[in-house]
Amino acid sequence: MWRSSLFLASFWGHLARCYPAAGSSYQSTLGFERPDDWQKYVQSPAKNVVSPLAIVSNYTQGNITNVDGLLTGQSVTTLTRNSGDTIPTIVVDFGKNIVGFLSIQFDGAYNSTPGDPSVRLAFSETLEYLTNVSDFSRSDNQPDGQKTTPGSDQIAVKSDPYTWTDTHGCEFEDTKVCADGLHGFRYVKIYMDALPTDAPYTASYGSVSISSMSLNFTGFLGTPDTFTGWFQSSDEQLNQWWYDSVYTNDVCTDTFRENDTEPRGAYSPTLDGKLVLHDGAKRDRDPYVGDLAVSALTSYLSHNVPLAARNVLADLGDHQRSDGWIPPASINNYTLPLLDYPLWWVVCSYDLYMYTGDTEYITNYYPNIVKLLDTFYPSITNTTTQLLQKGLGVSDGYGDYAFLPRTGTVTYYNVLYVLALNHAASIATFLGGHDDDAYRWTARAENVSDAVNSNLFDTSVGAFWDGTCGSSPCATHAQDGNSIGIRSGVANQTTAISVLSYLSKAMARPYGNSFYDNEVLQESFSQRVYAFISYFEIDARFKTGLADSALDQIRRMYGWMAANEPGITAWEGIGPNGSKYEGAFTSLAHGWSTGIVPALTNNVLGVTPTGPGFSAYNIKPIPGDVQWAKGVIPTPKGPIKIYWDNSYKNQGVFFLTVSAPDGYNGTISVPVTNATVPVYVNSQLVSGGENERDIKVVLEGGYASLLVSGVGENTITVGYQQGGKRDL
Ligand SMILES: *[C@@H]1O[C@H](CO)[C@@H](O)[C@H](O)[C@H]1NC(C)=O
Ligand SMILES: *[C@@H]1O[C@H](CO)[C@@H](O)[C@H](O)[C@H]1NC(C)=O
Ligand SMILES: *[C@@H]1O[C@H](CO)[C@@H](O)[C@H](O)[C@H]1NC(C)=O
Ligand SMILES: *[C@@H]1O[C@H](CO)[C@@H](O)[C@H](O)[C@H]1NC(C)=O
Ligand SMILES: *[C@@H]1O[C@H](CO)[C@@H](O)[C@H](O)[C@H]1NC(C)=O
Ligand SMILES: *[C@@H]1O[C@H](CO)[C@@H](O)[C@H](O)[C@H]1NC(C)=O
Ligand SMILES: *[C@@H]1O[C@H](CO)[C@@H](O)[C@H](O)[C@H]1NC(C)=O
Ligand SMILES: *[C@@H]1O[C@H](CO)[C@@H](O)[C@H](O)[C@H]1NC(C)=O
Ligand SMILES: *[C@@H]1O[C@H](CO)[C@@H](O)[C@H](O)[C@H]1NC(C)=O
Ligand SMILES: *[C@@H]1O[C@H](CO)[C@@H](O)[C@H](O)[C@H]1NC(C)=O
Ligand SMILES: *[C@@H]1O[C@H](CO)[C@@H](O)[C@H](O)[C@H]1NC(C)=O
Ligand SMILES: *[C@@H]1O[C@H](CO)[C@@H](O)[C@H](O)[C@H]1NC(C)=O
Repeated sequence: MWRSSLFLASFWGHLARCYPAAGSSYQSTLGFERPDDWQKYVQSPAKNVVSPLAIVSNYTQGNITNVDGLLTGQSVTTLTRNSGDTIPTIVVDFGKNIVGFLSIQFDGAYNSTPGDPSVRLAFSETLEYLTNVSDFSRSDNQPDGQKTTPGSDQIAVKSDPYTWTDTHGCEFEDTKVCADGLHGFRYVKIYMDALPTDAPYTASYGSVSISSMSLNFTGFLGTPDTFTGWFQSSDEQLNQWWYDSVYTNDVCTDTFRENDTEPRGAYSPTLDGKLVLHDGAKRDRDPYVGDLAVSALTSYLSHNVPLAARNVLADLGDHQRSDGWIPPASINNYTLPLLDYPLWWVVCSYDLYMYTGDTEYITNYYPNIVKLLDTFYPSITNTTTQLLQKGLGVSDGYGDYAFLPRTGTVTYYNVLYVLALNHAASIATFLGGHDDDAYRWTARAENVSDAVNSNLFDTSVGAFWDGTCGSSPCATHAQDGNSIGIRSGVANQTTAISVLSYLSKAMARPYGNSFYDNEVLQESFSQRVYAFISYFEIDARFKTGLADSALDQIRRMYGWMAANEPGITAWEGIGPNGSKYEGAFTSLAHGWSTGIVPALTNNVLGVTPTGPGFSAYNIKPIPGDVQWAKGVIPTPKGPIKIYWDNSYKNQGVFFLTVSAPDGYNGTISVPVTNATVPVYVNSQLVSGGENERDIKVVLEGGYASLLVSGVGENTITVGYQQGGKRDL
């Protein structure tokens, strides 16, 4: 009748038993027959050795025999080039963006001129940017004197059969016949050609035979058995995009290796060999802490491999500067000057503590939080306005996640400061013994919040200004400050609704919501979409009760990325008309763009931690047009499992069942159509006064909320009394 994976069998079995008894009017549809086959959405390769999927046949040219032999591995593909011939070329498609080391099993070669016959490889995430050189290679980021390739990888093919693996370095003389090593790509172009600079070792002519090729996948192999958290709902597209984004994050979850990471001074012995969350699969292979604000959440909620985030946070904390500033990444030997990322480091430290309960980490790095918040940020605060002001102290040349040319009192920096201060105060409170810190940071957050509201709000449009141009506000409004203004609580509900309505009006594009409403700061900013910052707007929409507009924004943005090459993986940024915003250079698998994962899990499924390691949690489904959802959230003491059904909302009916580890307390909020609709917990009426379990129901904002402490499973029904239990 239904399929359930082993580790969930007891949960869903139990759930089934709690369903309304035969004869109950909702029995047939509020049913346990909801599909339980989320595994079908998983995008990970089945194993670390990945084979190509197809030949893109319209690119095949020159003298090639048996081109499909490459795919089957059952017969040999031979490329032959004589002087005057068209260059033999094959384009291989791995079917999706992948990351790792390509290997080619050569079956032999012969030359007709001196030197080994040469094969060149060009990698690309899309056909659009597939050329004779890779859409990105390390040489694109290397100073001129250190470039060893023109952007393609070269092979001098030996005459005896052997396996060539794409490792970083050169076959001859440290500078000749060189290859890049690791690539993030979907397509690879293979063509017979020799670089003049590789003489005398290679030649363009001769013949090369290939028996097969494969990729050593180095990302996190996120097969179904590795999911400690999952999501499924009535909406097939949302489901698929949730898993697509998990896969995107998987290809960015990789070991930090000297020759595969960002060549601009990012190598760091303290990260070497550690699992980290890189900020891109093909490019910028360095863990940036701002990216973690999204990608770490995706990681916690899918495979729960907290080490990948923790390694990064700890390493950056260890490199704190003497004035308290914390570097954004290891790039440039930990000196890239960003103003917002140290605040993200606080937010990410809080998230790590809340999602994984890592008390050891937070205790170790608590002094770093104090120093950052009490030394560095005060040094760039205008004591008259109480606001962070870019230009004060060392901050003049400092950038942010998009190196935006802004100065003065920028809304984004200040509202993020409020978020970080309040999170730090929560950490102080949870740890205990730091009441002074908690008090001081909360009070400062209130000061900054008040100052943002009184100095940075543009009443003419009903949204926050971006910041100041000289001494007056810049005539532009940004998605970041406005969205995080809501997330941080700087904007109250009235302001939030005003802000979000302005963003909808001014920034909605067919491929998402842009990050600026006009071009005051830079050309085409009003057409650029960052899934990264969009996550905070989407989350703000849910939290403001605008689920429909949140889902609409998700559908435009993730729908666009899913429908365009390379498909599946989420892009670093989207440009005018839905283009890749930085052309070939754009990374099309970027962990910071995977916010759909926390957005759906936290809001649609509805689960968020309110105590370290989910020791306290909120469950508040925000369904929008989603009819039902279910899923699992990993916690240090075991999973929180939840299923809800809103299919009968027209009759005022809502159904939710949840189980959580013993000793955990949850506040559960279920949507109610009016104040008189009855609410039951495990068949007992709990709304409208006293009840056996002494559960108090609070009605507010269209929800009935109640506290459920510990012990096992609870089923909450709104509008109908759940029938007796039954065994299957
Ligand atoms: C080759 O075929 C693919 C579809 O398989 C298409 O997207 C692409 O534009 C074609 N390229 C050329 C150069 O014809
Ligand atoms: C293609 O290459 C093969 C050797 O692999 C050779 O026998 C054949 O003559 C070549 N065909 C053409 C048209 O050059
Ligand atoms: C790649 O092709 C372009 C034009 O098609 C050419 O100008 C360039 O020299 C080629 N680069 C290499 C490395 O062959
Ligand atoms: C990195 O690449 C260089 C060649 O550029 C090589 O000599 C070195 O061994 C590589 N390091 C590692 C750890 O593989
Ligand atoms: C795949 O690459 C990793 C990282 O370089 C290496 O440790 C492993 O041995 C490789 N596996 C295969 C099958 O080549
Ligand atoms: C990086 O900075 C540290 C501390 O300033 C210094 O000791 C180290 O030599 C630098 N490393 C490089 C590669 O420049
Ligand atoms: C601080 O803000 C006030 C009010 O906007 C301004 O007059 C003053 O110049 C600022 N201070 C500095 C050091 O920029
Ligand atoms: C809040 O602002 C006032 C001045 O407006 C200042 O005196 C006070 O010290 C500030 N409090 C904190 C905690 O920063
Ligand atoms: C919301 O915040 C604004 C700006 O601070 C304030 O003017 C307004 O009174 C607040 N509204 C409510 C309902 O608190
Ligand atoms: C976007 O589309 C418009 C209208 O079709 C066109 O004028 C513009 O050049 C396009 N921009 C880009 C970057 O493709
Ligand atoms: C859960 O609530 C009970 C009483 O309602 C309390 O004793 C217990 O400490 C709470 N547990 C947690 C983890 O907060
Ligand atoms: C409240 O909602 C229930 C279920 O939809 C409905 O039966 C009832 O009439 C409603 N009561 C009021 C006062 O609207």
